[in-house]
Amino acid sequence: MLKTSPVKGSFGVRIEGVDLSQPPDPSVMKEIIDLFYEHQFFVIPGQSLNKEQFHTFCLHFGLPHAHMIRKVRMEDYPDMMVLTNKMKGDAKKTQGSAYWHTDECWEQDPASATILYSLETPENGGGDTMFANMFQAYDDLSSEMKNRIKGLKAIHYFGKGVAGRDGDYGPNPLELQEERDEDIGATHLLARPHPVTGRIALYSPAGTSRGIVGMEDSEANELLNELAAHALQPKYTYRHKWSVGDVEAHDCSSTMHAATFLEAATGPKDTRRLYRMSTKGKAGIYA
Ligand SMILES: [Fe+2]
Repeated sequence: MLKTSPVKGSFGVRIEGVDLSQPPDPSVMKEIIDLFYEHQFFVIPGQSLNKEQFHTFCLHFGLPHAHMIRKVRMEDYPDMMVLTNKMKGDAKKTQGSAYWHTDECWEQDPASATILYSLETPENGGGDTMFANMFQAYDDLSSEMKNRIKGLKAIHYFGKGVAGRDGDYGPNPLELQEERDEDIGATHLLARPHPVTGRIALYSPAGTSRGIVGMEDSEANELLNELAAHALQPKYTYRHKWSVGDVEAHDCSSTMHAATFLEAATGPKDTRRLYRMSTKGKAGIYA
């Protein structure tokens, strides 16, 4: 029997009473998927999983999708990656994903879900993840703004272009030619119907958006700025503090998220480490 409790009103849900090291019963899994689509993200605390168990759980959310950046893929599980402030060699720091974005929205078929599993958290806190409720942000737009953005498509690139707005990530240099070849850009409706439920979300005005189809850059940047400033108000956002064993999943079609900046780890006490996997398309039971 699953036990649920709210996170921030209807935004987010905490789920207890399930051990994900065993494949959940199909009826329980359906309940988890339905909670996911209803509340946009969930946290299931207290899990103890190996890579295979985590991967198996993630496959319920859609088709596995390896990250475009080759070096972040796990060797044994290329669909998965490790998020950490534990740096290789003498690298001192990384910005990571400490900016508001939507996973893989620089691809025409963007991530639909991202699932994270916390293995290590800094003893003194830090490394939280922020989520924004893009359903609510859309619902609260004025009817004039809803009319203005109807049918408009934002242009997204991972590594090209310039950050148009304060707080955006700058051009992200892609090291490999095959990565550059894949960064051909994508366009997505700003008022985008959810692929499963049809509810409209404001889709990714910040982060990798580099313009709007058919609009002058100056006007597009101004509009994207205005939409991002609206959507990222504290009333639409939630900050998750990780505990070891948390499994978190967010619906990429109705949320944005941002890591928070963390210095490079000096040892186990200040290390943050999570497994991450993204999926595309609908959860299997709705595909
Ligand atoms: Fe992300």
